[in-house]
Amino acid sequence: MEYDPHALIEGMIIAGYTLGSNTGYVYGRGEYRYLLDIMDVAINEARAAGLLGKNILGSGLDFDLHTHTGAGAYICGEETALLSSLEGYRGHPRLKPPFPAIEGLYASPTIVNNVETLTSIPQIINMGGIAWRDLGTEKSGGTKLWSISGHVKKPGVYELPMGYADMEKFIHEDCGGMLRDGKKLKAVIPGGSSVYIINAGQILGQNVTLDYEGLVAAGSMLGTGGMMVMDETVDIMETTKNLTEFYKHESCGWCTPCREGTDWLVKIFNRISIGGGRPEDAQLMLDICDNIEGKSFCPLGDAAAWPIQSAIKQFPGDFKKWLVDNTSANGVSPNV
Ligand SMILES: Cc1cc2nc3c(=O)[nH]c(=O)nc-3n(C[C@H](O)[C@H](O)[C@H](O)COP(=O)(O)O)c2cc1C
Ligand code: SF4
Repeated sequence: MEYDPHALIEGMIIAGYTLGSNTGYVYGRGEYRYLLDIMDVAINEARAAGLLGKNILGSGLDFDLHTHTGAGAYICGEETALLSSLEGYRGHPRLKPPFPAIEGLYASPTIVNNVETLTSIPQIINMGGIAWRDLGTEKSGGTKLWSISGHVKKPGVYELPMGYADMEKFIHEDCGGMLRDGKKLKAVIPGGSSVYIINAGQILGQNVTLDYEGLVAAGSMLGTGGMMVMDETVDIMETTKNLTEFYKHESCGWCTPCREGTDWLVKIFNRISIGGGRPEDAQLMLDICDNIEGKSFCPLGDAAAWPIQSAIKQFPGDFKKWLVDNTSANGVSPNV
């Protein structure tokens, strides 16, 4: 959207043509209004060039685009909450079925796709579907954008063929290696905060391929491709606390397991972080996660449970220091 907004416009026109739809919306979070300002300029350029609007290039096809900004809620990225928000309602997820493809925006058949997906369409058509698929692997075709943050020398957005081998090489060579020289890799959250966190032992020497299958085999998921890299100075209990605070804040409050569960989890993390950790807290948190995962109205509940479940499993030492020894993973006494 920032560097090639017309690729998204082209992808959406083709999607509209394919589906017989006359209208498309580019919905963005409130914080990213600057991207929609770029899109507005590009949409006006496309209209002026006769590529949007009525009877595009004399083809008989009518298709137009509009941008819309949410008010900053993470849940409005979930497709049905997005549709509620776009219609002017509070951004609560909707019951599925009916799925948006049957009854979506204003009760009309609707597809909701990621910008990355739609932007790939012109490229796929230009190359041909088979040639595009062959950029990746048989099961995970094409390319994927990876958005790397954290303790690497060269964070940023990388487009890689699916099946790129391997995560260790990617972090240590392509991304320039660990940010702070001499510090070792400790943890990676490969696909945005809503996937399982994995430890260095699950990555180093394991040939983790960057595709759907490779990340599942490594014990996590591809998710959004938002990869967070952490070195050995990071205390995973504190990281997990931070993530849980995010999910508590972003829980839309519609269903009880997610609304009450995330709030309860944050209260436990707060108590632990001021030196009140108890050995039984790990099991207590796992029990709460078990009552959120698979029992919430939308996937945000699962997303809140998975980081905690995986962090306790993969980094037991960090939790032991807070729950049993009452010192943090970095050897600093908790702020009692
Ligand atoms: C809590 C939650 C937040 C989401 N946020 C986003 C988002 O910010 N952007 C996005 O493209 N998809 C987001 N999704 C996924 C969308 O619901 C939808 O599956 C996706 O946009 C489909 O696009 P794709 O099939 O092209 O990948 C979110 C899902 C959930 C459950
Ligand atoms: S799981 Fe959380 S975000 Fe999703 S509907 Fe329930 S309260 Fe809202």
